[in-house]
Amino acid sequence: MIGLFERLARPFLHALDPEDAHSLTIKMLACAPLPRAAGDDKCLAVRAFGLNFPNPIGMAAGFDKNAEVPDALLRLGFGFVEAGTVTPLPQRGNPRPRVFRLNADRGVINRLGFNSQGAEAVLRRLAARANAGGIVGINIGANKDAADRVADYVRLIERFAPVASYVTINISSPNTPGLRNLQQAGALDDLLARVIDARERVTRNAGPTPALLKIAPDLSLAELDDVVGIARARRVDGMIVGNTTLTRPASLREMKIAKQAGGLSGRPLLPLATRMLAETYVRVEGAFPLIGVGGIDSGTAALGKIRAGASLIQLYSALVFRGLGLVAEIKSALIAALESDSLDSLSELVGADAAAVTAEAWPG
Ligand SMILES: Cc1cc2nc3c(=O)[nH]c(=O)nc-3n(C[C@H](O)[C@H](O)[C@H](O)COP(=O)(O)O)c2cc1C
Repeated sequence: MIGLFERLARPFLHALDPEDAHSLTIKMLACAPLPRAAGDDKCLAVRAFGLNFPNPIGMAAGFDKNAEVPDALLRLGFGFVEAGTVTPLPQRGNPRPRVFRLNADRGVINRLGFNSQGAEAVLRRLAARANAGGIVGINIGANKDAADRVADYVRLIERFAPVASYVTINISSPNTPGLRNLQQAGALDDLLARVIDARERVTRNAGPTPALLKIAPDLSLAELDDVVGIARARRVDGMIVGNTTLTRPASLREMKIAKQAGGLSGRPLLPLATRMLAETYVRVEGAFPLIGVGGIDSGTAALGKIRAGASLIQLYSALVFRGLGLVAEIKSALIAALESDSLDSLSELVGADAAAVTAEAWPG
């Protein structure tokens, strides 16, 4: 039903400004009477960060920024949903237009700048569904004008740890000036020390909530050495690799739109994001699991992420071009891959190609 509806709606949605199309999609999901998703094949189950995921495919942060439709997304077959980015105080983000489709490239550029309804509104929604089951994480970020950005993360983890399945510390958005500087060694160590300490304090009442770190694909390998070393020393529960890129691959065809400022996502991001994932995997040495995100638009791309080191995957941009049927398509491809190798679980494939990927020429 939803597939048919979507196929009919997609040309209409593509005729709209991308942000208007997105708002309309959220409204439709909020009121669509969706049946509960059919149970997943048990070979797709993943255990990571102490959580049991029915399948490894997650909705990436940025789609449901204000946690309006996490349960609709779970019903549509996602194994988990990452709501946010949420900021402590409401903020509007950058002036519109600020989202652009690169149709010929199957890519998106956005410079939204953490438009958020703020912690109160999002907290209320997550608290209302906290016992509904399903894995719903929250991605947290600092307000643009915060005097002390680290204090924003501390406050948000304290507030959200009791109602979220996990919390992602997002220091990799390219659209909040200076935010990515928190990835520098000294700043990151201070941030993680304070955030993990806050998480430990709430754990005493709320139980353990995994804390993940989401990084940019644009780090140098020397910077990645530092980031992974600090993440391991501060004992984060996992990393997400990664956010959108400020680079513009030479292969882009939509040359004019590519000049728009902002982070690029979708198919053109796949080679860089997968390379950074593999580079992260070989540095983490199994200390914690990774979520691979960036450019997944097919079963083959999803499998490639897992083989490069992802225990779980997330996607967003490909849904704009491929629609929600992509989720079922990826599940079928993963099951077929397991069957052809006579494997019982995806965990046997995680990182199988990581070393080989790191030996390839750097993606251009
Ligand atoms: C319109 C848009 C908004 C996004 N907003 C966020 C956000 O608020 N927080 C975040 O961590 N990532 C955000 N992202 C990045 C995605 O979560 C993801 O890391 C990135 O798009 C790469 O995945 P994809 O190629 O499958 O889209 C956003 C991406 C897009 C396209």
